[in-house]
Amino acid sequence: MILATQAAEAPATAPAASPYERIGGIAVLRQIADRFYDLMDQDPAYRALRAMHAPDLAPMRESLPNFLAGWAGGPRQWFEANPGKCMMSMHKPFPITRKTANQWADAMACAIADVAPADTEIATALSDVLAQMARGMARD
Ligand code: HEM
Repeated sequence: MILATQAAEAPATAPAASPYERIGGIAVLRQIADRFYDLMDQDPAYRALRAMHAPDLAPMRESLPNFLAGWAGGPRQWFEANPGKCMMSMHKPFPITRKTANQWADAMACAIADVAPADTEIATALSDVLAQMARGMARD
């Protein structure tokens, strides 16, 4: 019978989880973003990076986790609110140097390590790829 054959041939495993699901969804992305902006705000190691941002970091605390959610295969509300907006091009007006790009990458690596998502493989991958993206924004 056709249906029985199809059932027998159905894959035994569920589809692979997206990076968004593996990292722990929006709750974990929010924790990471909050820790990231706390570090940027409070740790003198990130003073130059902090100085580039607006005094009020509240909009960034909202925006960054929403961007990361869509980018990692989760809800796309940031992309729907910003049609056609490219993160690399959006940063072109900012005078990003290797120093400030490294501060971004280091603060993000610390934030991810502090939040310590249970899936350590995806946590390391996220840290590495965001560091590459940040360093790719430096123009000196
Ligand atoms: C390389 C170092 C980086 C620097 C110096 C930097 C700096 C900035 C600045 C100055 C703003 C404007 C917000 C404000 O004035 O408070 C901004 C916005 C933003 N940045 Fe970065 N950024 C960097 C890397 C990144 C990376 C790697 C990502 C994403 C993975 C990112 C995600 C965002 C987002 C989501 C916004 C808000 C965009 C919006 O929703 O309109 N940034 N960034």
